[in-house]
Amino acid sequence: MSKPRTVAVLVGSLRKESFTRKTARALAKLAPEGLTLEIVEIGDLPFYNEDVEADPPANWTAFRRKMKAADAVLFATPEYNRSVPGLLKNAIDVGSRPYGSSVFDGKPGAVVSVSPGVIGGFGANHALRQSLVFLNVPVLQQPEAYVGGVAALFDDRGELVDDRSKDFLRKFIHAFAAWIERHV
Ligand code: FNR
Repeated sequence: MSKPRTVAVLVGSLRKESFTRKTARALAKLAPEGLTLEIVEIGDLPFYNEDVEADPPANWTAFRRKMKAADAVLFATPEYNRSVPGLLKNAIDVGSRPYGSSVFDGKPGAVVSVSPGVIGGFGANHALRQSLVFLNVPVLQQPEAYVGGVAALFDDRGELVDDRSKDFLRKFIHAFAAWIERHV
């Protein structure tokens, strides 16, 4: 890595014991030196409403500023009804506007989806990618990250204890670091 980079991490769950947030934290620990992952909170963003763009809510403005300052964006999402939770979709909508000032335009991105089920949030992962095409986010293609069976991967302190998952997530975040260097 040539210079330090920061990754804004958007986590699509507000649950205290969220597996998705635990996965994001694990990825932060597995990242190569020089790559810093910072969770940008999205739970306090009012629902997107174009009517208030003339005088936007302070939380929108702060969120947009933080996102613009980051070199890259990592979407860590659970799957709700085979798609992206409204929480995360709202953050994407807020960040994408006003028209022409999207915080996502050209910013390298990656997606990790998480589920206690066996499909690993595939539906959410790909629903998200549909928006990212429109938002002009160059998204890491390989390795794809569908974390299934997640309930068995962490101990009761929230630490990732499954070695295979650790190896995989390390490969994923190192590939993302290389991807970022190609796109910043
Ligand atoms: C779910 N869950 C779920 N899981 C899945 O694999 N596919 C799905 O389509 C859904 N749909 C769904 C809808 C809603 C409204 C909820 C609340 C949950 C289960 C989900 O994967 C599980 O609750 C995870 O633990 C949520 O992620 P966090 O909160 O642990 O990060």
